[in-house]
Amino acid sequence: MPKTALITGITGQDGSYLAELLLAKGYTVHGLIRRASAFNTQRIDHLYQDPHEAGTRLFLHYGDLADGSRISTLLKRIQPAEVYHLAAQSHVRVSFDEPEFTGSTTGLGTTRLLEAIRSLGLPCRFYQASSSEMFGTAPPPQSESTAFQPRSPYAAAKLYAYWMTRNYREAYGIFAVNGILFNHESPRRGETFVTRKIARAAARIARGEQQLLHLGNLEARRDWGYAPEYVEAMWLMLQQDAPDDYVVATGTSYSVHDFLVLCFEHAGLDWQDHVRFDERYLRPCEVPDLVGDAAKAERRLGWRPQVLTPQLARIMVDAELAAAAPERPGSDAVVGVAP
Ligand code: NAP
Ligand code: GDD
Repeated sequence: MPKTALITGITGQDGSYLAELLLAKGYTVHGLIRRASAFNTQRIDHLYQDPHEAGTRLFLHYGDLADGSRISTLLKRIQPAEVYHLAAQSHVRVSFDEPEFTGSTTGLGTTRLLEAIRSLGLPCRFYQASSSEMFGTAPPPQSESTAFQPRSPYAAAKLYAYWMTRNYREAYGIFAVNGILFNHESPRRGETFVTRKIARAAARIARGEQQLLHLGNLEARRDWGYAPEYVEAMWLMLQQDAPDDYVVATGTSYSVHDFLVLCFEHAGLDWQDHVRFDERYLRPCEVPDLVGDAAKAERRLGWRPQVLTPQLARIMVDAELAAAAPERPGSDAVVGVAP
C-alpha cells in the first residue's frame, strides 16, 4: 500500500533529497513551504508534477512553523503516515543574531507539530531533525549516550526539540524519533555554510570571477558526510519496529582548513593566495570538534556512509565548475502550490 508523507523544510537541502527518495519509493509526498515574494523552490523544481494531471504524487502547501493552527489543519487534511520535520532556522551563526526567532521556529516549531499530532490522534510516525551541534563541547567521539553541552541558541533550541520528541514518545506513545545527524553537505547545501562557500569560491576563483574568499575559524573540526546518504537514514529510522534515537555520521574528522585545501587543490589553486580572515564569521561560542560514532545506526539500521570528506569536496567543487554553464537545467520550472 503506497504511503503518504509530509516533509517540512522540503525546499531545503535535505528536504529536496528526501522528497526524491520518497517519490522513488512510491510515496505520495506533501511539502510545507513558506510563502515568499519570489519562488524559493529551486531545489525541487526538477520534481515538479503538474497538479492538473492524474497521478500527481507531489503536493506543496503554504505554511510556517510559527503558525500552529495551519500545521494542525494541514495534518488533519493530509493524514500522513510519516512526518519528516526538517524545517528550521538552521544557521548556527545566525542564531546568535536571532536567538528569539530561532527558539520559536527551531525549538517551538517541533512542539507545534507534536501537539497537533497528539491532539488529532494522528497515528503517524514522526522524525525530528536533531543535530550534532547539541553536543557542543562534549569531547569526541560523540554517540547517543554522550551528554549534551550546547553552545549556541540554535543548539539550545534543537535540544529543547530533542527532549520534546522524547517526551511525546514516552508520555503519549507517539512513534517519534530523533536523528542526531552530523554535518552533511552536497552541491545543494546553502551558500552560507562553510563547505559550499569554499567549494563555490574555489570554482569562481578558478574561472577568474572572484579573487578573495573571507573566512572565520579554520581550526574547527567537523564530521562531514554526503546529504543524499543521510536522508536514507531518516527513512530507515521510521521503518523500524520501535521508535529510538540514532547518531548518523562518518566517524571521520577534518578541519575547515583541511576542507579548504581539499577544494582548492582540486580546483588547481593554492588557497593561501586567495583566503583572508574576517572576524565577522567567528561565533561568540565555537564548537571545536565533532566526530560521530554511528555504530548503533549501522547495527540496527544497516546504514553505513559511502562518501567520505575528500570525495565530498571533489563532488562539490566539480558541481560548482559544471554550474558555469549559462543556464541550469530546470531553472525555469515553476512548482504548483496547493492552497
Ligand atoms: P536548510 O537547507 O537550511 O533548510 C531548512 C528548511 O526549513 C528550508 O526548506 C526552509 O525554507 C525551511 N524553514 C525555515 N524556517 C521555516 C519556517 N519558519 N517555517 C517553515 N519552513 C521553514 O537545512 P538542511 O541542511 O536541509 O537541514 C534540514 C534540517 O536538519 C534542519 O532542521 C537542520 O537544522 C537539521 N540538521 C542539518 C544538518 C546538516 O548538516 N545539514 C545536520 C544536523 C541537523 P526556505 O527554503 O523558505 O528557507
Ligand atoms: N558558515 C561559515 N562561514 N562557517 C565558517 C566560516 C564562514 O565563513 N569560516 C569558518 N567557519 C566555521 C564555523 O565557525 C564552524 O566551526 C564550521 O566552519 C562549520 O560551520 P557551518 O558550515 O556554518 O556549519 P555548522 O557546523 O555551524 O552547522 C551545520 O551543521 C550542524 C550539525 O553539526 C548546520 O547545518 C546546522 O544546521 C547543523 O545542525
